Amino acid sequence: MDIVVSGIRPTGNLHLGNYFGAIMNFLRMQEENKCFFFIADYHSLTTHPHPDDIQGNIRQILAEYLACGIDPEKSTLYVQSDMPEVTELYLLLNMNAYVGELERTTSFKDKIRQNPDNINAGLLTYPVLMAADIIIHKANKVPVGKDQEQHLELTRRFARRFNAIYGVEYFPEPDAYNFGKQLIKIPGLDGSGKMGKSENNGIFLADDPKVIRKKVMSAVTDAGPATPGAEPSEAVKNLFSIMEVVSDQSTVSFFKEKHANCEIRYGDMKKQLAEDIIKVTDPIRLRINDILTDPVYLGKIVRKGAEAARESASKTIREVREIIGYRPF
Ligand code: TRP
Repeated sequence: MDIVVSGIRPTGNLHLGNYFGAIMNFLRMQEENKCFFFIADYHSLTTHPHPDDIQGNIRQILAEYLACGIDPEKSTLYVQSDMPEVTELYLLLNMNAYVGELERTTSFKDKIRQNPDNINAGLLTYPVLMAADIIIHKANKVPVGKDQEQHLELTRRFARRFNAIYGVEYFPEPDAYNFGKQLIKIPGLDGSGKMGKSENNGIFLADDPKVIRKKVMSAVTDAGPATPGAEPSEAVKNLFSIMEVVSDQSTVSFFKEKHANCEIRYGDMKKQLAEDIIKVTDPIRLRINDILTDPVYLGKIVRKGAEAARESASKTIREVREIIGYRPF
């Protein structure tokens, strides 16, 4: 069985793009693999969140993942900061991670350009912590998007280096786990690009129906097709792409035909689209709210997750200490 690890930064509020892009894949993976999904709350400390916000951010993202169907009976769901073993492995890996290679990492270069006043060592060693997250469970598969490929390459390098230095074949080199073409990209409502958390073009799973209707009704379209069979504009194509994932095929065909013979009324199409989105998101929204009102349940999940994750992690740490040369007195 493959061992899968993925970390989720607690930046809150999943949108439709996250749901159809990443989470649907997580749901499938948890059926077939040994999955560890965790909230990467240490990683988010690089931007110095306010102490009053930390707990709420973690709760929100946990509730959202649970509401989407991440099943704590099938996957190990835990919070990174509950795992002292990860910080220990991070320290040990840091000894063989070179400042030069970390400074050359694209994400680090981007960050220091964006925030020249906060170039902290945690940012520099972000990829080392990420490597520790992954190899602590000796994972071989990591479901991540394109933006994380370089980090994963570094993980492989650190694993390989550890093995080479100590002459062992201890850590596997994990591969990115994506479903290639099956990865669905959900566009935003603003006529350009993909749906994002901060682009202000997204529909969040936690949005209530009123908000969703309003957002969809104000989505960018165009003046309508001028000639029969004309190719839809980018903005209208985007709406069709969202429709493809939330609506019945017959609904999509209906509006495509209307577009093709210049009879389409975007208002009607948007009304239908909004209702079909709500059909997907509303049960999730209600579950998110339910879970958030039950801190006892969340507490149980998190403790159970930490226990299982620490069992796997402490075995690794014991073996790594042995390999490095620590012997019991
Ligand atoms: N860096 C990842 C991101 O920004 C989050 C992350 C942290 C992660 N540790 C991980 C992802 C381990 C996969 C595996 O999205």
